[in-house]
Amino acid sequence: DTGRGTVDRLLRTLATTVFGPPAVTESNTSIESVLQEQRVFQPPAEMAAAARIGSLESYRAMAAAATKDPDGFWGEAARRELHWFEPFHTVLDWSEPPFARWFEGGTTNLSYNCLDRHLEGAKAEKTALIWEGEPGDVRRFSYRELHAEVCKAANALKAMGIGKGDLVALYMPMIPEAAIAMLACARIGAPHSVVFGGFSAEALRDRLKDGEAKAVITADGGFRKDKPVSLKPAVDAALAEGACPSVTGVLVVQRTKQPVEMVAGRDQWWHDLVDAQGSDCPAEPMASEDRLFVLYTSGSTGKPKGVVHTTAGYNLWAHLTFQWIFDIRDNDVYWCTADVGWITGHSYIVYGPLSNGATTVMYEGAPRPSKPGAFWELIQKHGITIFYTAPTAIRAFMKSGRQVPDQFDMSSLRLLGTVGEPINPEAWMWYRDVIGGNRCPIVDTWWQTETGGVMISPLPGATPTKPGSATLPLPGIQADIVDGEGNSCGPDEGGYLAVRAPWPGMMRTVHGNPQRFRESYWEHIRPADGSYLYFAGDGARRDADGYFWVMGRVDDVINVSGHRLGTMEIESALVSHPAVAEAAVVGRPDDLKGEGIVAFVTLESGRESSDDLIKQLRAHVGTEIGPIARPDEIRCSDALPKTRSGKIMRRILRALAAGQEVSGDTSTLEDRSVLDRLRA
Ligand code: WT7
Repeated sequence: DTGRGTVDRLLRTLATTVFGPPAVTESNTSIESVLQEQRVFQPPAEMAAAARIGSLESYRAMAAAATKDPDGFWGEAARRELHWFEPFHTVLDWSEPPFARWFEGGTTNLSYNCLDRHLEGAKAEKTALIWEGEPGDVRRFSYRELHAEVCKAANALKAMGIGKGDLVALYMPMIPEAAIAMLACARIGAPHSVVFGGFSAEALRDRLKDGEAKAVITADGGFRKDKPVSLKPAVDAALAEGACPSVTGVLVVQRTKQPVEMVAGRDQWWHDLVDAQGSDCPAEPMASEDRLFVLYTSGSTGKPKGVVHTTAGYNLWAHLTFQWIFDIRDNDVYWCTADVGWITGHSYIVYGPLSNGATTVMYEGAPRPSKPGAFWELIQKHGITIFYTAPTAIRAFMKSGRQVPDQFDMSSLRLLGTVGEPINPEAWMWYRDVIGGNRCPIVDTWWQTETGGVMISPLPGATPTKPGSATLPLPGIQADIVDGEGNSCGPDEGGYLAVRAPWPGMMRTVHGNPQRFRESYWEHIRPADGSYLYFAGDGARRDADGYFWVMGRVDDVINVSGHRLGTMEIESALVSHPAVAEAAVVGRPDDLKGEGIVAFVTLESGRESSDDLIKQLRAHVGTEIGPIARPDEIRCSDALPKTRSGKIMRRILRALAAGQEVSGDTSTLEDRSVLDRLRA
């Protein structure tokens, strides 16, 4: 059902889900404030004067040129910004939508673009990567050094029998070897599949099997909250009993020195194999559309989907967006706090910065009780100029008070960014004031795993910002707010966030399931003229200035601290426990995390709800998916609210989870007494 009424209702619910329940205070609720937000901040004059794109007019001219002649715009950018072994002959082949082919005929290599081309002249000695471990150990790599390390790792992969086209899974802590391994894979044309280190052995196994990974790169463990946390045992568990026959080798970095079991003939230490290799390994010329990586993300059905990105288009988009959005300068020290296990880490810790020859910072740790000011200390210590983090982190800092950041000198900062979820104006203002000293512009960047890079964001030298708005689409991005038939919505009318034209960084398919790619992204909205529209899964509105205000997901996906989780995925984890008959999972507003997870379960007959069982169920979800998916609350009941056709009415559960009145039509409920019992 995509009728207007539904969209409006959804957007109203979303507004409350995302920005917290209404009536927090009498006059200034979060949702109220986002709807009434009037503040506008102009780009600082010095920044505008020096910027690549230095005014709203130049942005608009660029965007207009891109719309008028997309092939000319993207073709010129690709020739200018990337190194080509062989030039491409076609910019875009869109003859079989929604399957796009970009820059056909060309060959290039992402690792070459990130490393080799910076080795001529002084750039070679420039710091490419500054890494800090949780215990405070620091490692720095110049472009020359990083190139050598990547070549050694690439040679090691070859020695393991890995070649062009073989999928390599990475299950790693935030250590330099994670970035080195990614670049090494790209160098030899072996697509990588990075699995976030917080996922469980089960989740890892699913991804290894789905991708038919040939090798796994991991570590003994990493440091988290001042303690070593193991990783290798999860790899062993994932591979146990021949569960993943495609995996022939495991490469293990020694980080924590925890004891690990090494399986003879399968496992090798990084320091044995990689360190023995030569530091020269020519980058393999890759066809533009050769697979670069697969990254799994949650959708509205049970199984996470393997989002496929390809070589040239992804490279160009990560490169261009990084250059535009951060208006990167040679002396910038840039830090993104994401994990390489997410797309943000791929595009904006590793590939975007290195492709531009920037200095990127990588941190193993996080703020923790022993070091609440960990981020601010890092900014002071390394003279960080650009800082990119998630709203959930900002809200947590807000809560613990400005006295923590106020102890540090953060005058090196010139630009701030946010990513991953909507940011409420209060958090935006705090970020600007307390972290940015009221001098740094904020870029609120909207995008997704599927889009490869940022799609909607201010340009710091050009776009006036409004707290809570991601502002305007980047040049070349035909973003729109539409109804179910693809008609554009009017100002301030809520609708679906959609993209009307292909862009180089777009995902190409779902690994092994092109039909799912069609259905999930291109068939929800069907314009009468038969054109193809990319459906992002988010609800949004556009104000009279054309500014986008993203409200949150309109599908069964929830966003917990910027981590995307499918409710069905958590439900299948719950019902795989012998005590559970049925489960329905919904999001509920959470001041810190954006959304929290609430599960409603009915138990198998003969099972009784108890604190102990609830504990077991939470732990079970942790084992099936990972700690981030553990429900905040599990409510047991004897039945779930269903329609006569047996569909669970999630709208009702969402209201109950949020402690709100169940409003709207409940006449389709099969058994109204269920509602009363759930309320009780
Ligand atoms: C979903 C994508 C790509 C970055 C990390 C998350 C939400 C992302 C914003 C933003 C409002 C945002 C959307 C989107 N989202 N950025 N600036 N404002 N919402 O990637 O895991 O693929 O999740 O994150 O709901 O669909 P992801």
